[in-house]
Amino acid sequence: MKIKINENFLRIKESYLFSDIAKKVNDYKSAHPDADVIRLGIGDVTLPLTKCVTDAMRRAVEEMAVKETFRGYAPEYGYDFVRQAVSDYYARRGVTMTADEIYVGDGAKSDLGNLTDIFGDNPILVPDPVYPVYVDSNVMCGREVTLIESNEENGFLPSPPTERRAYVIYICSPNNPTGAVYDKAGLSAWVDYANETGSVILFDSAYEGYISGDYPRSIYEIEDARTCAIEINSLSKRAGFTGTRCGWTMIPNELEAGGVKLGKLWARRQATKFNGVPYVVQRGAEAALSEQGEIECRELIAYYMKNAAIMAEALEAKGVWFTGGKNSPYIWMRCPNGMGSWEFFDYLLERAQVVGTPGAGFGSAGEGYFRLTAFGDRDRTIEATKRIGALL
Ligand code: MLT
Repeated sequence: MKIKINENFLRIKESYLFSDIAKKVNDYKSAHPDADVIRLGIGDVTLPLTKCVTDAMRRAVEEMAVKETFRGYAPEYGYDFVRQAVSDYYARRGVTMTADEIYVGDGAKSDLGNLTDIFGDNPILVPDPVYPVYVDSNVMCGREVTLIESNEENGFLPSPPTERRAYVIYICSPNNPTGAVYDKAGLSAWVDYANETGSVILFDSAYEGYISGDYPRSIYEIEDARTCAIEINSLSKRAGFTGTRCGWTMIPNELEAGGVKLGKLWARRQATKFNGVPYVVQRGAEAALSEQGEIECRELIAYYMKNAAIMAEALEAKGVWFTGGKNSPYIWMRCPNGMGSWEFFDYLLERAQVVGTPGAGFGSAGEGYFRLTAFGDRDRTIEATKRIGALL
């Protein structure tokens, strides 16, 4: 063919981190068909959708089977009932976000990747280590990405740079992969930086449901965030929607760049390239966001956080340094005996048949660290913890 490809794709790793891991595990399983492999790698949930969610989805399926209540294309920005349910969800924790500032989508990953469409050629600021989608999606469209190191010294919570520059800034709190969570002062420093420099923050709050301490669960809990921040959230980790797919992006009406409202651009982008989340899923999302839904989700979260506590206790007993696992479903541990992240991945897979995620896969500052997810089944998590403990 004579057409030109987007050569920026050649600047990113050939395959996505979790695809690499899946391939390595599948190769191992082919070579050792009897091995009992326990996966604590990708942050995929294992508990089913809750009762109020599946009841709502069942009712929606019945509606779809009847001519009078059947629905075709969903509105591009979500049905009003979900936008209102999201707005009510935030109102219950003191954050005002009107339904027209909420854009329902098929999850945080897609929205985080697609938001690059509405920005021009700005410098991008991304903490390292971090969820790989932020860097990869910007490199794919030729953007210059500046990494800001997070490490044990800064508690994996970097502060804004001293250099004053207008950036598109990505912040994930509670953080994937480290589990570190910004307090009000830490997040306010970023909001002040963004307002002073004319930057925009893309705030990924996909893990906010796991916060139990006194930390902001939304960036809009911080004064003046409405003039500098877009927030992206999802039901994947909180309500078990990893396969069901529903999330939302919030763009305050006053958020403007170059005299243009960012919400208007996102609406235009979505109307052109997206046809909405299925009706049945949106009814499930509405239920998950209801007060009853919140009660049921808290049970899922409590289950996973108990898994985190089991792993944390074992690591503490072995004197292994780690962070996370308190306001986050991820445990971020230092690899033993100075091992590299991938070296420890191989060691754990071969010697204990346990799969985790190498810290280096989230950026070079993640080298020497390893991520374990608490989203596993309880008995399998206990078994994996025993096997890891025996190795350390
Ligand atoms: C992770 O394991 O980091 C996440 O599950 C990946 C994702 O949400 O896409």
